[in-house]
Amino acid sequence: MALKKITMISVLPGCFKSKKLSPEPKDRVTKKITSQRLSLSDLSNPGSPLSMSDLSSSLIGSNLHVFTLTELEVITKNFSSSNYLGEGGFGRVHKGFVDDKLRPGLGAQPVAVKVLDLDGTQGHREWLAEVIFLGQLRHPHLVKLIGYCCEDEHRLLVYEYMARGNLESQLFKKYYVPLPWLTRIKIAVGAAKGLSFLHEEEKPVIYRDFKASNILLDSDYTAKLSDFGLATDGPQGDDTHVTTRVMGTEGYAAPEYIMTGHLTTMSDVYGFGVVLLELLTGRRSVDKNRPSREQDLVKWGRPLLKDPQKLDQIMDPRLEGQYSTEGAKKAATLAYQCLSRHPKCRPTMSAVVKTLEPLVDLDDIPTGPIVYIAPTEGNKERDVQKNIKENEEKEMAKKDDGHHRQRNGHRRRRRKRSLRSRAVHSDTTLYRTLGTSLYSLKQKSQLDDGI
Ligand SMILES: Nc1ncnc2c1ncn2[C@@H]1O[C@H](COP(=O)(O)OP(=O)(O)O)[C@@H](O)[C@H]1O
Ligand SMILES: [Mg+2]
Repeated sequence: MALKKITMISVLPGCFKSKKLSPEPKDRVTKKITSQRLSLSDLSNPGSPLSMSDLSSSLIGSNLHVFTLTELEVITKNFSSSNYLGEGGFGRVHKGFVDDKLRPGLGAQPVAVKVLDLDGTQGHREWLAEVIFLGQLRHPHLVKLIGYCCEDEHRLLVYEYMARGNLESQLFKKYYVPLPWLTRIKIAVGAAKGLSFLHEEEKPVIYRDFKASNILLDSDYTAKLSDFGLATDGPQGDDTHVTTRVMGTEGYAAPEYIMTGHLTTMSDVYGFGVVLLELLTGRRSVDKNRPSREQDLVKWGRPLLKDPQKLDQIMDPRLEGQYSTEGAKKAATLAYQCLSRHPKCRPTMSAVVKTLEPLVDLDDIPTGPIVYIAPTEGNKERDVQKNIKENEEKEMAKKDDGHHRQRNGHRRRRRKRSLRSRAVHSDTTLYRTLGTSLYSLKQKSQLDDGI
């Protein structure tokens, strides 16, 4: 196999501009690596910024655009609050617009720009993971990375814009109309295909932070995985797992991973099971506002999943009974298996896709107060779209309501705060569960060579 010598400068132009590297810096690393997909572990000497010099040529070939901070400030109107889209542990995300005046060949399109919070717990490591994975992996169910900015200590990522934001908001925020059954199945299938693609790569990728807020939805509810900050390479050769410090989100992380730090693709399958259970029940994985025995969704819901008689006790009341009973039973059984405490008893993601895909064909959906046309062979997609359109119209009608708009504004402000505090709380809780001391991800990045 052809071996290539590459350097950081050639792969990530614009990075470390301020470090004024001399033409032949003493500690410059040049390493032979294969032309295969580059993995995070291919970076030598994780403590040094120059370890980045070993990124593979596959990244160069991935057509990522390199932007300056000033350019990204301009396209997002200085990261104005009117362009705010959301945030997680990495930092805030803002909408912007690009076209070929910015870079030749760049189609005119809206984009989402994620900005590293320099006071936050994440840092270069998480940014690099996104560049490495999303820069090389392309799939209809992974969000497309368009480019990045790496200037001084600033780290930004530029993605395709996903018009309907994240699944968490669509599923749980009361100001959105309830997602219809077939839309939920479509989302589950899309997200499952994204995970399945990652797991079946020649060098498998473990996503590690599968949750509703990391599943983005485009205008027709096609689901795409975003946020590869915690993604990592799967076990190689004869290894059965990778051992890492436990990172992720409370309520979604697999029990064996929390207990042992052993990470496998089956940890992602567990996370998928949690999201599937959220889609069925309309309940959050952790909800401190519920009675204590119902706060942990898996603890409460899993025993009910295996009993078809109890299905109607757990199905989302906002569906108003308008779901395929057969489809719900199959999805419930699947969620039960994904949530097994024994990783080996969980199905693979490709088996999950095979089980879920036929559910869009099941037309035993009762009609209720909302007029619904059950899908038949050949017009399923159109019917899903019709359903979606009806919901959009309702959504628009709601938004036209002045009173609602005002309340919505208040909620949005509150949402920003609660999202952030939850992310911090989640990590903290996980570390506490493990009895590990608290340290920032930046520190971890320097310490951890197994991520
Ligand atoms: N490409 C995008 N299009 C639209 N909204 C996005 C996009 N990327 C992120 N967002 C919004 O920002 C939120 C945080 O993004 P995410 O990538 O999960 O950041 P973090 O790494 O900080 O968790 C998402 O839940 C979503 O609401
Ligand atoms: Mg996120």
